Amino acid sequence: MCGIVGYIGYEQAGPFLLDGLQTLEYRGYDSAGVCLNDGSELIVKKAKGKLKVLKDMTHDGEDLRGTVGIGHTRWATHGEPSDVNAHPHLSESGRFAVVHNGIIENYQLLKDYLTSKGVEFRSKTDTEVIAQLLEYYYKGSLVDAVIKALEKLDGSYALGVISQENPDEIIAVRKESPLIIGLGENENFLASDVTAILARTRTIYRLENNEIAILGRESVRIINTDKEEIHKEQETVDWDVNAAKKGGYEHFMFKEIMEQPKAITDTIAPRIKNGRVVLDEVSLSAEELKNFNKINILACGSAYHVGVVAKYIFEKMLRIPVEVDLASEFRYRDPIVNDKTLTVVISQSGETADTKEAMKEAQRRGSHVISIVNVVGSAIAVESDDVIYTWAGPEIAVATTKAYSTQLAVIYLMALYFGEMLGTIVPDEYKALVKELEELPDKINAVLENKERIQYLASKLFNSKDVFFIGRNIDYALSLEGSLKLKEISYIHSEAYAAGELKHGTISLIEEGTPVIALATHEELIGKIVSNIEEVKTRGAQVMCIACDNHKELEGVGEMIFIPKVCDMLLPSLAVIPLQLFAYYVASLKGCDIDQPRNLAKSVTVE
Ligand code: G6P
Repeated sequence: MCGIVGYIGYEQAGPFLLDGLQTLEYRGYDSAGVCLNDGSELIVKKAKGKLKVLKDMTHDGEDLRGTVGIGHTRWATHGEPSDVNAHPHLSESGRFAVVHNGIIENYQLLKDYLTSKGVEFRSKTDTEVIAQLLEYYYKGSLVDAVIKALEKLDGSYALGVISQENPDEIIAVRKESPLIIGLGENENFLASDVTAILARTRTIYRLENNEIAILGRESVRIINTDKEEIHKEQETVDWDVNAAKKGGYEHFMFKEIMEQPKAITDTIAPRIKNGRVVLDEVSLSAEELKNFNKINILACGSAYHVGVVAKYIFEKMLRIPVEVDLASEFRYRDPIVNDKTLTVVISQSGETADTKEAMKEAQRRGSHVISIVNVVGSAIAVESDDVIYTWAGPEIAVATTKAYSTQLAVIYLMALYFGEMLGTIVPDEYKALVKELEELPDKINAVLENKERIQYLASKLFNSKDVFFIGRNIDYALSLEGSLKLKEISYIHSEAYAAGELKHGTISLIEEGTPVIALATHEELIGKIVSNIEEVKTRGAQVMCIACDNHKELEGVGEMIFIPKVCDMLLPSLAVIPLQLFAYYVASLKGCDIDQPRNLAKSVTVE
């Protein structure tokens, strides 16, 4: 939620700030702003709406003067999206400017206090209190004022601060929200995420909680809140700079859909050695693994849907009971978790606030946590006991596709690896599954080649008001993701239902012409789902059905999409492709803003 950038060097800061914000727009896009020190005063430009408004206003930053500046792209929490609530926020006199990602939980208390001292506030944001506190505490040292202000703040924050009196420094600090420092030649950078600085430098510091970075043009110092120097290791980022660009595609989402075979190959290939899955990242011995009597999966959004698929797979292959929880619910339900529970946390960003806090709750209760994360060095990756990275590369579209698919791939790897350790998979089955897993990217390519068929079906259904997704077993788990994809980017109401449950209420919503997307890939339950399809067709539903190509007899139950036959475990990886493409084409036909759907943000760092 919210993206932060900062620049200090000898060049004009404006163009970098605007470019950097562009790459961070996935984090929030209801308003944006920049503030530069032009040598004598702080100049702020900000605007409600997409970054484009600010870019046009400043001619891509060319109109801005100053070699030090900060910028922000916002996903509103406190105060509606508006020019005045956009960041950066200035103190009353205009001498201190702040950009902030996170939430200041005690802002009202602080605001009341400052108001009682005569300070006048302009915005409805929690962030403005920080700017006002800086001015209130400033006695000639910006860093001292920041430290004093931090003592008063409760909540989460990544902050970038500049001041009129200090044209040669930016102060950056974080607590529970991500922030990295980029180290260049005679220039240094600040950003919420490395994609913003990749074009300029690959050398970074990743700030830890309560570390304060003082960025100058030629050096960066890092101190703690007692002003003691901290020696930090520099990191080199090896992400491909083009990975965060559209590369000729109209949308990031489509590009990322097409990248899935490669992302899955990158995720599985290094972990299959001589026909065996090897997860060196997992520190558990077979003895320790056998000690667990439950697996607990925690995640939000699409990552949660991966968890639901994982429940079916783990229970079948490992014979251990699995509970899947929405992280936001788990946190507050006094869960029964202890050292006999293995917790699996799934997160693309590795910074989702609820997921992170749920993970900590599980750890507090003695559970060993394995995380499945895409962003290297993110909080969840660092704080979990073991991390298995998905090598999907940067995912920019708000609606996840390749991260979802690579998370599934890790679930398969874990099922095979643990299954072998526990002896719950017989060797022949193991061998066959590993072989099929290695062939999966090619089969995904085959499904992607059928995209025109899905585009055609999307053109028949894009005017629908409601769409239902049904399935059984692993198909049900996948239908949850199909439904979410459609609603988040096309704004069509949709629901996913376990097909057998439909008749207990929801079938009353089916009327003449209602689209029902039926997933009929799970071999053992084909007969059952076909009966459910007949039930909705009898009531007028138009059915689109996804099935494996060894079931051509299903031709006629609806508009068919056939996918290659694979073993049940791997089916979701193939069947999800038509669902992603369907959502994409529907949204495209409706003219929706596919990469940045309304009201959403990719990285949800608030509760
Ligand atoms: C947001 C994104 C979803 C994602 C969810 C969890 O809602 O739009 O695509 O599944 O957050 O994010 P995470 O980074 O933890 O996977």
